[in-house]
Amino acid sequence: MSSLLITDIGSLVTNDPALGAGPLGLLEDAAVLVEAGRVAWVGPAASAPAADERYEAGGRALLPGFVDSHAHLVFAGDRTAEFNARMSGQSYSAGGIRTTVAATRAASDEELDANLVRFLNEALRQGTTTVECKSGYGLTVADEARALRIAASHTSETTYLGAHVVAPEFADDPAAYVDLVTGEMLDACAPHARWVDVFCEQGAFDGDQARAVLKAGQERGLIPRVHANQLSYGPGVQLAVELGAASADHCTHLTDADVAALAGSDTVATLLPGAEFSTRAKYPDARRLLDAGATVALSTDCNPGSSFTSSMAFCIAVAVREMGMTPDEAVHAATAGGARALRRPDVGSVTVGARADLQLLDAPSHVHLAYRPGVPLTAAVWHAGVRAV
Ligand code: NIG
Ligand code: FE
Repeated sequence: MSSLLITDIGSLVTNDPALGAGPLGLLEDAAVLVEAGRVAWVGPAASAPAADERYEAGGRALLPGFVDSHAHLVFAGDRTAEFNARMSGQSYSAGGIRTTVAATRAASDEELDANLVRFLNEALRQGTTTVECKSGYGLTVADEARALRIAASHTSETTYLGAHVVAPEFADDPAAYVDLVTGEMLDACAPHARWVDVFCEQGAFDGDQARAVLKAGQERGLIPRVHANQLSYGPGVQLAVELGAASADHCTHLTDADVAALAGSDTVATLLPGAEFSTRAKYPDARRLLDAGATVALSTDCNPGSSFTSSMAFCIAVAVREMGMTPDEAVHAATAGGARALRRPDVGSVTVGARADLQLLDAPSHVHLAYRPGVPLTAAVWHAGVRAV
């Protein structure tokens, strides 16, 4: 088994305060030893152990791979016209999801798989080494199960989102659709999913429907995460906390009670600035959540409707510029925060035993992710110790 020493790292983000300065556990002039796909040693380059291979980082910055804990990548078609109309003044609504549902149902398994692989590779090239992937553009038993089967062949972080919107066939009888989602559809999907999610929003599912969906999933061993408080104030965040969800996602419209509930819980507030950017909406207030003591994650929400970006670096830059986060907080949220939102202690940090998911920036510091917006800074990526980019 061969070992790799990445050395001459100018600035290393470990996300372990025991290893270096601040919450990012920053180390200068550092080295990382990789063995059998795991981090085997972290410390000053001057005292690094010998290894079979060496990679000279040339004084540049090394970080954990990004953990994108919220994405919708099993889909077909595109919604350029809808985006164009929105940027010409129209507003966003949950109903646009049905456009993608029609295109996704019409696509072959091979087309959906190829599209998913394309976006996973796109994300990897930009430093993302863990991606969560939701169903939600099928909305029939067979189409939801196939989306999760396809997703599960590429990631262990699969989320059953049969309750994305009410399927068009059930427009006149939403209760019957909830019965399907909590019954036969759940039976078909649970074997391929780790998580259960619901879009709790006006035009999608109300609090009672969302509770029924999440509880049914929990009974089948799925862990809840919730699309909560995106377009309006509502019960999503409180429901997420009540049910012990891993994450409440969006969190754009929060009351003081919502913020307090998140701060007093283990539910991560996952913020998705690409959605507000692409729907020209008000950004969530990350500062308010952080000051209250909530754990914050940043994620892309990559989907063809509300946020068609796979770039975590873009999300970091927007979060710093528009949401009151410091660059350190935003980088932490895009790595360790995402790992918390997925309950994955093995990713999102550069610590002994962690999966060796690493990204090298063509920059001296992680701060450049916000300082140089829109610039492709990812110079190299290792995924489970294997050079992927
Ligand atoms: O997270 N909010 C619900 N779902 C997606 C939007 C999906 C779509 O518009 O196709 C989101 O923003
Ligand atoms: Fe989403």
